[in-house]
Amino acid sequence: MLNTTPDARRLLAGPSLEGPEPLADHLARLGPLPTARDAQRTMSELDASGLLGRGGAGFPVGRKWRAMAERARGHAVILANGAEGEPASLKDRVLMAARPHLVIDGAVLAADAVGANDIVFYVGREHEAAVAALGVAIEQRRPGVRQRIRMIEAPIGYVAGEASGAVHFVNSGDPRPTTSPPRMSERGVNGRPTLVQNVESLAHAALIARFGAGWYREAGRGAARGTALITLSGTGRPAEVLEIELGTPLGEVAAGAGASPAGTLAVLLGGYFGTWAPAADVWSLPLDPAAMREKGLTFGCGMVGLLPARTCGVDATARIMSFMARESAGQCGPCVFGLRALADATRRVADGRSKPDDMDGIVRWTQIVAGRGACHHPDGAVALMASALRVFEEDLDHHVRSGRCRETSASAGLHAATSGPSAASTSRRMEVA
Ligand SMILES: Cc1cc2nc3c(=O)[nH]c(=O)nc-3n(C[C@H](O)[C@H](O)[C@H](O)COP(=O)(O)O)c2cc1C
Ligand code: SF4
Repeated sequence: MLNTTPDARRLLAGPSLEGPEPLADHLARLGPLPTARDAQRTMSELDASGLLGRGGAGFPVGRKWRAMAERARGHAVILANGAEGEPASLKDRVLMAARPHLVIDGAVLAADAVGANDIVFYVGREHEAAVAALGVAIEQRRPGVRQRIRMIEAPIGYVAGEASGAVHFVNSGDPRPTTSPPRMSERGVNGRPTLVQNVESLAHAALIARFGAGWYREAGRGAARGTALITLSGTGRPAEVLEIELGTPLGEVAAGAGASPAGTLAVLLGGYFGTWAPAADVWSLPLDPAAMREKGLTFGCGMVGLLPARTCGVDATARIMSFMARESAGQCGPCVFGLRALADATRRVADGRSKPDDMDGIVRWTQIVAGRGACHHPDGAVALMASALRVFEEDLDHHVRSGRCRETSASAGLHAATSGPSAASTSRRMEVA
């Protein structure tokens, strides 16, 4: 499958995805990068493109650059966020490993547009192919770039990719998020205004700057415009990274990997920070951040995790909650104790050994933890739990009453990254074994 558009200029279009695209091939395929003199036009094109950030929150990229340009005064920092601590997502590491120069292009453009003289690539140290590809590419580009440009390997951990955690690590070697204000855009790396932007967002910006908003918007189904990287897992095949036209129905993408609605119990959308939905309800759902938000669903980092029929949604949720509790940075009480309590109670329910007040406890913690941490880590975890309470209501009830699962005992592997980062590609569908 994708690139679903025939256009050879999209993120995963062009040569093989198995190794980094060399600089000469990259330039021959896409042409030179617009210069700093074109910065105003670049920001206008970004605004017109409607590009939303792809790190999870979906904030408009053009608006973020403009706001930074107003306060940067030439000494801002660009932090290209390639931490990708989300275990269910692979798209950033695949992009950085295969298209390092496109990601660098986006960061250089951002620096020129907002007025930054320092670029930091913050890349998960476990993403070895990405670290290697970007390392070589940065060395090649350094002589032609007027900004200071460097890579810092992010520590392994879910919250290390959170914007303030990333800045904290670059400043002091401690990846724990810090309370805001001040925002990173006001006081970030070395106390300077810092634009934290996901690496996929930057790569899209590099294409939009070259080919324009009109070109970007040629792709897209229905009201949705543009393309996005997604990680598809739970199909019975290894997890895959795809570039889809936004608005492509979820079922079409899943069917392309051999999945069917009858064979799918539920879908996890947006990653461990996202939402569960019953498969039947979302099979025709357009994969589009705006349409999904209207339905209370999450596009997030583009993760689409299928939970096969005859697997246990309660067990799958308990595993995710345990992971989220373990990944708390351990400095805010509601996050530390709330997520642990939620994870333990969900595990007991999943295992058929719940205590009488476990379900009440799960509901209570889900309500009171939100908004009580220094970062949004607990908010994402309880949003996922709230969706599990809706989608798996009958299963939870069955577990509590009978001590067993209605479906079966094992849950599917949504943890795409546990199977490792070695990548194999077939056409534009990137399979991660
Ligand atoms: C717990 C947590 C973990 C996050 N991890 C990542 C990450 O690994 N990569 C990323 O790009 N954004 C991550 N984010 C989002 C960043 O804080 C930030 O919003 C993003 O990098 C901004 O880029 P964007 O506007 O291009 O999406 C995370 C957020 C939270 C709350
Ligand atoms: S809310 Fe949780 S993850 Fe975020 S800073 Fe506080 S303890 Fe750490």
